[in-house]
Amino acid sequence: KATLPDARERTLIAVKPDGVQRRLVGRIIQRFEQRGFKLVGLKMMTASEDLLSEHYRELRTKPFFHSLQSYMTSGPVVVMVWEGHNVVQTSRTMVGPTNPTVAQAGTVRGDFSIHVSRNVVHASDSLEGAQREIQLWFEAKDLLDWDCCDQMSTS
Ligand code: TYD
Ligand code: MG
Repeated sequence: KATLPDARERTLIAVKPDGVQRRLVGRIIQRFEQRGFKLVGLKMMTASEDLLSEHYRELRTKPFFHSLQSYMTSGPVVVMVWEGHNVVQTSRTMVGPTNPTVAQAGTVRGDFSIHVSRNVVHASDSLEGAQREIQLWFEAKDLLDWDCCDQMSTS
């Protein structure tokens, strides 16, 4: 079976509370599946303030931090780990820029949101960030290593 050298790259994607409430979970998962990425971890949970504070630790001093924290802990999120070639960068492109005002149609944020404070989805922004966030949200045993039956698969 042909695999690319970096086919094991992983990233953290989360449907935020507004995305769950608006019933967007299925459509967001579908985009990553149809692109060709492999789902290796998934759970639904309501995040604690401590977890959010760690997840967004680089933003703790920002003026919007406390509203971000209360929004992100206001209801369930669907947290996922996706795997595949260049998945960190490609999923950032699929998600679109932080501010939906400038997000192109065809991106998740460009198709489903209008305001930065309700931008539907999270995606890790670097390999290092992805590794840190995956460890923060998941235990290693909950990430599954499974073989794709598809001969053309790149993951
Ligand atoms: P950031 O990590 O900069 O963006 P991204 O989600 O694209 O990686 O910010 C994290 C989240 O913080 C962002 O998705 C929405 C929220 N946020 C605001 O509410 N207001 C802002 O001005 C910014 C920059 C972010
Ligand atoms: Mg970010």
